Amino acid sequence: MTYTTITVKPLSPHLGAEIEGIDLAKPLSAAQFDDIHAAFLKHHVIFFHNQQLTPEQHIAFGKRWGTLNIHPYVKGMADHPEILEIIKEPSERINFGGGWHSDMSFLEVPALGSILHAIEVPEVGGDTLFASQYAAWEALSPGLKQTLEKLRAIHSAAEEYGAQGASSRKRASMDSEVVGDDVPEYEHPVVRTHPETGRKGLYVNPAFTLRFAGWTRKESRPLLDYLFEVCRREAFTCRFRWRPGSLAMWDNRCVWHFALNDYHGQRRHMRRVTVNGDKVR
Ligand code: SIN
Repeated sequence: MTYTTITVKPLSPHLGAEIEGIDLAKPLSAAQFDDIHAAFLKHHVIFFHNQQLTPEQHIAFGKRWGTLNIHPYVKGMADHPEILEIIKEPSERINFGGGWHSDMSFLEVPALGSILHAIEVPEVGGDTLFASQYAAWEALSPGLKQTLEKLRAIHSAAEEYGAQGASSRKRASMDSEVVGDDVPEYEHPVVRTHPETGRKGLYVNPAFTLRFAGWTRKESRPLLDYLFEVCRREAFTCRFRWRPGSLAMWDNRCVWHFALNDYHGQRRHMRRVTVNGDKVR
C-alpha cells in the first residue's frame, strides 16, 4: 500500500498503525482523507500523536466519517453533546471502558468507529488495548465457523447501564443515566461481514452480548466464554501508550478495546466522538 500524504507505521501484525505527517486540526484534503481511510481499513485502529484539537475540530474530523452518535446513557459536553468526556479523577477507582467491548453494539445500528483524543494522561498507566476480531474469526475451525454463521446474538446495555450494573459501576466524574430494568435488546449476527472490506469477523463482546438468540443465558455461556477467549488472544492485540495530544480511531465493526485501569491516584481525561455505522450484516 502506498500513501501519498502520510507515513504509516504498523504496530503489530494483526492491527494498529501510527500515522505521521498530518495535522487533524486543519481541514483535510480529499487525498489526505483517502490515505487515512485506507490506513484505517487496513490496520483497523490508527494512532496519531501531537494533535491539538478543539472540541469543534474533533467533531469536524468525526463528521468526515459519517454522522455522530449522541450516547443514550452518558451525557456529553454541555455545548457539544456528541463529545463524551471520559474522565477518571485521582480519587476514583472505576474507569470507563475498563473491560473488553465494542462500542455501542447494544444499539440497533451500532457504531462504525470511535475517535478518542487524549487531553490529560497519567505519567504511567492508562494504556488502551485493542484486539482484531477478523483474526479471532480466522482462527476458528471450519466446523465451528459453520455453526456460528447460522447464529445471532442478543446485545444490550443492561449490565452496564441497567439498575444493577450502573450501581456497581457508578463513576462520579461522568454523568450516566441509570435506566432501570427497561434496557432495550437488539439482535445482531454473530459473524459480521465488514461493509467496506468484505472481510468476516466475530461480532460478540463480553460487555454487551447477553446470549445467542433462541438460547438461554446458561446455554450460551460456555460457547460465548470460548469465543471471548479467542477474541482476546494476545497475538491478536496491540497496546497503545497515550501522550497528551494523542488521538486514536478504531473500527468498532472489527475491533474490541479495553481501557486499562492501572493508574489509581492519577488523573486521565479523554474526549471521544463516535461515528454511527450501518445495520450489522
Ligand atoms: C472507551 O471504551 O471508549 C474508552 C477507551 C479509553 O479510555 O481508553
